[in-house]
Amino acid sequence: LRGGGFEIVQPALGRRAPGVGMTLASGNTAFSVGLQRAVHHLFDPEPRILEDSAAWSLLNADERGLVEQRPELFQTNPVRGFRRRLLARQRYAEDALRRAAPDPAVQDGAWQYVILGAGLDSFAWRQPDWAGGLTIFEVDRPAEQAGKRERLAAAGLETPANLRFVEADFERDDLLDLLIAQGLSLSAPTFFSCLGVLVYLSREAIERLLGLPLRMRGPARIAFSTAGDASRGSDGALARLAAASQERWISPVGPEEMRAWLERIGYADIAGTDTDRYLDQIMPPGPARAASGAPSHLFLAVK
Ligand SMILES: C[S@@+](CC[C@H](N)C(=O)[O-])C[C@H]1O[C@@H](n2cnc3c(N)ncnc32)[C@H](O)[C@@H]1O
Repeated sequence: LRGGGFEIVQPALGRRAPGVGMTLASGNTAFSVGLQRAVHHLFDPEPRILEDSAAWSLLNADERGLVEQRPELFQTNPVRGFRRRLLARQRYAEDALRRAAPDPAVQDGAWQYVILGAGLDSFAWRQPDWAGGLTIFEVDRPAEQAGKRERLAAAGLETPANLRFVEADFERDDLLDLLIAQGLSLSAPTFFSCLGVLVYLSREAIERLLGLPLRMRGPARIAFSTAGDASRGSDGALARLAAASQERWISPVGPEEMRAWLERIGYADIAGTDTDRYLDQIMPPGPARAASGAPSHLFLAVK
């Protein structure tokens, strides 16, 4: 076993589950991340990094079977370390979202959360109390969204009334137009997240996504992750898996370069950390981390 877990989990699913072929063809990396979130919720010791109570419902039968029949696959040190980093990036974005929640006492409380490249993100199905007044937009490619809808139907999960699905290809589409067509208000406070997505995109598409908050009229911010080095450790494992599933890592961007990029396109308020430092900040001290390779970089850019 080398690297970060995708290498063992995905081949195992591919071999034993012909029925998962559609999912594999259209959302390899997204389903792998969802699988790790479900495993975290079910099996990792407390305190958990994220309480993702809905992740299990978004798995298909083959993925559930794998978790139930081969739980040991998910409990090696490299896979655990890799999972902690995936959960850390999700927690980073949701912590920042929570801090951005408008005070319902001082305005009407309406605000918006746009999840760019949502994959199997489950926030909409476990909305906390502080998310009142929120409209959620999940943006992904049509095939990924179709796959997610199938999973929702199979699990008997309804679409929450405040959730909109937006089909888009970040390489081609003017996202703002598509979001407005689904009801996005340019003047309501808006929080964008983009986790584990940018590395798959061209530099032109990355700049369009990062620039979205700057085109809003109201307060807007974006929390996102980047991967800097596709040649090392768990990043290398993820990059190889992605390439095998035709989701290629084409734009690794390191933290210094990303910060300079954000400044160049017009952000003055930029916070940055990485998944390991964030875990040190939010989790109680414990046994030494077992992750190999490089952490993901995390940013919050405020308009
Ligand atoms: C690694 S998954 C991450 C999913 C989710 N953000 C998470 O952390 O669980 C990458 C996601 O980016 C989406 N994506 C990649 N390229 C895209 C593109 N050109 N247009 C729209 N979505 C894209 C994929 O469909 C997939 O859902």
